[in-house]
Amino acid sequence: MTMHEMEARCRKAAGETWPEKTVVFGEGNEHHPAVMLIGEAPGEQESLQGRPFVGKAGKNLDQFLDVLQLNRWDIRISNVVKIRPTKISPKGRMSNRPPTKEEIAFFAPYLYEEILLVQPRMLVTLGNTALHAIVGDATIGSCHGQVMQTVIKAGDTEAGFSVFPLYHPASIIYNRGLAQVYQEDLLILRRVLEQGEPSFFE
Ligand code: URA
Repeated sequence: MTMHEMEARCRKAAGETWPEKTVVFGEGNEHHPAVMLIGEAPGEQESLQGRPFVGKAGKNLDQFLDVLQLNRWDIRISNVVKIRPTKISPKGRMSNRPPTKEEIAFFAPYLYEEILLVQPRMLVTLGNTALHAIVGDATIGSCHGQVMQTVIKAGDTEAGFSVFPLYHPASIIYNRGLAQVYQEDLLILRRVLEQGEPSFFE
């Protein structure tokens, strides 16, 4: 299975279920990058442009890359859910909402296949949705800023990966105290990447 074939399958299945939605697939380095960044779901700009992390989240991404001294195309960038979850406000405006369990369950198998194809050295999850999809029942408050281990399975393939959970940068906007925690976590991640975290079964 190539990335191209997998993306086509994901687009076809999502198009049948949500014909009105744009599918925003992962992009970037698909050959063993230092980092695969996993967000929750595309927002408005991402859905309009068909690319992950290009709106406000793109600004946060630039800062993330700056601290880690990496370029956007050095890493893989993806989301758990690959369509923009929306709701209509009482005033009739379209806005973002958290993805439903059904949306997450629909897209998670494609994320696992993507991870197994990409084989990143470190999975970096942003927020609880990505954390739960990757390591199961952990909460971000107790495991952010440290390296965890997980096993990713898709079909009859499985492999172990290191995971570094971060708060979602969007949550920092609503909770100023988290801004400093997020910065500290980024510096820890930089050190971990510089030192070369031992791989899963070492
Ligand atoms: N944009 C994305 O692509 N992912 C997020 O998690 C947030 C904004």
